[in-house]
Amino acid sequence: MLDLIHSTKTHDEDRQGEALSLPSTVKVSNGRKLYIESYGCQMNFSDSEIVASILLDKGFETTKDYKEADVVFINTCSIRENAEQRVRNRLKEFESAKAKNPGMIVGVLGCMAERLKSKFLEEEKLVDVVVGPDAYRDLPNLIEKVDDGSKAVNVLLSREETYADINPVRLNTNGISAFISIMRGCDNMCSFCVVPFTRGRERSRDTHSIVREARELYNAGYKEVTLLGQNVDSYKYTPNVPEGEEPLSTVNFAQLLALVAEVSPDLRVRFSTSHPKDITDEVLYTMGRYENICNYIHLPVQSGNSRVLELMNRTYDREWYKDRVDAIRRIIPECGISTDVITGFCTETEEEHQETLSMMEYVKYDFAYMFAYSERPGTLAAKRYEDDIPEEIKKRRLTEVVNLQREHSLFRLQHFVGKVHKVLIEGFSKRSDKDYCGRNDQNTMVVFPVDERYKVGDYVHVLGQSCTSATLIGKIVD
Ligand code: SAH
Ligand code: SF4
Ligand code: F3S
Repeated sequence: MLDLIHSTKTHDEDRQGEALSLPSTVKVSNGRKLYIESYGCQMNFSDSEIVASILLDKGFETTKDYKEADVVFINTCSIRENAEQRVRNRLKEFESAKAKNPGMIVGVLGCMAERLKSKFLEEEKLVDVVVGPDAYRDLPNLIEKVDDGSKAVNVLLSREETYADINPVRLNTNGISAFISIMRGCDNMCSFCVVPFTRGRERSRDTHSIVREARELYNAGYKEVTLLGQNVDSYKYTPNVPEGEEPLSTVNFAQLLALVAEVSPDLRVRFSTSHPKDITDEVLYTMGRYENICNYIHLPVQSGNSRVLELMNRTYDREWYKDRVDAIRRIIPECGISTDVITGFCTETEEEHQETLSMMEYVKYDFAYMFAYSERPGTLAAKRYEDDIPEEIKKRRLTEVVNLQREHSLFRLQHFVGKVHKVLIEGFSKRSDKDYCGRNDQNTMVVFPVDERYKVGDYVHVLGQSCTSATLIGKIVD
């Protein structure tokens, strides 16, 4: 049996893998076992599926126990200081396994590999191989180098690599929801953010390969795809046309969404992340036109104050953001909206923090990821501004944001009580196998008693009966 570590949750470093089994797809085994653990955003989890595909092709089998692995990979995140700390702690835990099995290869992949490059080899002695997000095709070769007794590094970033032709091995075996990377990198230089440095320039993946992947997933029984990119609204792909033929026009995100939605009305389509400066009315109208494009938008605000937004180089201000929220409410009245918030960014005053709270009041987000600012070496903010808000003030502001969000989540969920929701059954509830769980259109988790007539992967109508601030509880109605 093949197993890999994976998680089904969305972005940020607080998520860490859980073991899920993988259908046996190994070609001819080379007798060596691979273990991968992923941290960070969903892009990283999606990349681990590409890595697994590349190595399964070379005959590696996978294991969910790193102690019995020949190759141990950790796919890392650099977004905040504590994300990196968590990886370093985890590497310490690998030390004793390596001491027992000196042939074990330990590799660091992903954003932290890209940020620290060969310095990693000096800082963490047990690491043998360091590979950046655009160099995964080189993995078999790099492993060979390590087999020959040297350490290996490839952190070259690419302007073209999208791994479009690689069929990711689905590590998430609920068999219902899958992620599809539609682009890589990021060209927005948000001053706090390390991603443009770790993931390189933005590039969009071939439209045909995206639609093909969605179709193959649907044919294999999947019922939901999430299109992934750091800024999906700037998706832009001009298909290559053989010489002498009519040039095809460029495909934008709204058009891509429509193409994926047309794969089947039974395939739910979600996407993440939308950038407030780029999300267009065309995207909103496209969402409105297709019943199977879920009414849910993750629209990170970061701050509710225009001066702070300018320092963050987000290129929109408070009014612009509110205008986008108004457009969403106008065009898709039932749309769920979630966000990301950073508290205590450089020079943020108490009044400016209050504006973040008042923005939250204005939108009443369904859900939010909330963070205290963490300075990242090499970013524009680290170069230009002093990280001058004391830790306890950042934390206190964060607590205020978290508490307010809890009220708003509850407010949104209470609004769902008494209404009927179309829910895709994703599996059994964590608490009890007498309950199913799945999400409604707005991405809210719904829990309801198992009904033998329906199985995982079916759509059902659920009447919301009660709620907590995180879960809607209900029952199936016909
Ligand atoms: N591309 C997405 C965000 C990816 S990073 C976007 O533009 O919205 C996910 C979230 O991590 C960000 O939205 C931000 O809220 C948070 N984040 C990024 N860098 C951070 C930092 N240095 N300190 C604290 N939070 C940060
Ligand atoms: Fe980072 Fe900004 Fe790019 Fe998001 S849009 S990944 S926050 S630079
Ligand atoms: Fe982290 Fe890299 Fe994603 S820094 S959030 S894993 S793009």
